[in-house]
Amino acid sequence: MQLLPVMEGLHSAEAFNPAFLEAFFQRAREVENRPLEFSEALRGRIIATVFAEPSTRTRLSFESAAHRLGASVISVSDPSTTSGTKGETLADMAKVVGSYCDLLVLRHPNDGASRLASQYAGVPVVNGGDGRLGHPTQTLVDLYTLYRKWGEFEGRTVALMGDLRHGRTARSLAWGLAMLGARILLLPGKGLDWEASFERRILDKFDYRLRWGKHPLFAEWTGSTEARVLEPKGLVQKSLFREDPPEIDRLDAMYLTRMQAERGAEVGSGGYPGVTADHLKNPLMESCQLLHPLPRCEELPASVDHDPRALYFEQAAMGPVVRQVVFLAMLGEDKWPLPALAPLPAGSQEHDLGLCPNEGCITRSEGITAPWRVVGLARRTFLCSYCDSLLPVDYAGCRSTHRVHPAHSQAALRISPENLRPFLRRDEATAAGYTWGG
Ligand code: NCD
Repeated sequence: MQLLPVMEGLHSAEAFNPAFLEAFFQRAREVENRPLEFSEALRGRIIATVFAEPSTRTRLSFESAAHRLGASVISVSDPSTTSGTKGETLADMAKVVGSYCDLLVLRHPNDGASRLASQYAGVPVVNGGDGRLGHPTQTLVDLYTLYRKWGEFEGRTVALMGDLRHGRTARSLAWGLAMLGARILLLPGKGLDWEASFERRILDKFDYRLRWGKHPLFAEWTGSTEARVLEPKGLVQKSLFREDPPEIDRLDAMYLTRMQAERGAEVGSGGYPGVTADHLKNPLMESCQLLHPLPRCEELPASVDHDPRALYFEQAAMGPVVRQVVFLAMLGEDKWPLPALAPLPAGSQEHDLGLCPNEGCITRSEGITAPWRVVGLARRTFLCSYCDSLLPVDYAGCRSTHRVHPAHSQAALRISPENLRPFLRRDEATAAGYTWGG
């Protein structure tokens, strides 16, 4: 199959850019302030919401957004009633549903599902949460909520707490925060940290650096007084030369997440991190806005709901407005345009690299091999283009010279992108008629 050159729709927060986000916030303000102006904007359009995983607020807020714009909604809301349970592939489902609607909102348990569906649907696909990979519209909700409070993000410190390994909301938000120049502090539960390669991509893409910061309160959450901090390289840290690691004296926001038990997460020794009324008395938390994508569990007790820093219900209330803006941009026929997203390349299926190593990848459940794309400054990090998992490519061949080199050698860097032929193993290169080095 020939992959589409650009994936239409909204699949990953990685595709945002500062101009897009800035314009998005402005449009969201317009929609919030003058809702009636938009009430007929998408009359005659049909939006399908297919949720193959449980959801309350995400589905309802997408549907509320559609109704507020005058669009009609068709919906599958009970995961057990989707034809996936009869063994239908996502590709077939997307083809059929795409022919019934003008836009498809998809929630799915597998990583990369929306990117795959977009190859078949023939209409824009919006990712309503796919596996543990991403939840870009939740990120827009999170960022818009903070934008309404702060106006700008530079110089702000936002802590991401809880299940960073299996939770898609914190991962997606990390892209958005780095794009807007915020400092990100990581407070994962024991054994629930994300992969180093994910963090590396963020550091490389935004010219961020990794350092450590400390505070006694961190130990109550993670067992250690020290925490990783991702921040713009240019940022001057006032105590940088005095002590190492420097004390973090203020958090501007904390993004709490629940443990994703349905994705195999388990509580490590020392318990799962969350906030208490006592934590909120600590000077570190004095002006810390509390966010949570909800639903919550014990990490965020109802006893803190009355606190003026509790922002999570206001955050949830922004869901429909934000999703209205997404629909307007995609279906509004240039009446409400936004700066283009930086589309993710659909990747190449040529030169099969075999199965994606990630068992939760949509390619595994669809029974296909992983299309690949290259990222990074040297463009020699190979990812599954559906689920962003690192592919173990150690050798890069040149299709014009038929020579193969170690993937990170200088010689490999000189291969032009259109001539790049990846190999997982050296003997595969030899078998394909490639000679070593030179
Ligand atoms: C989140 C999700 O589904 O990823 N919920 C949401 O969309 N508001 C978070 C979660 O389920 O923990």
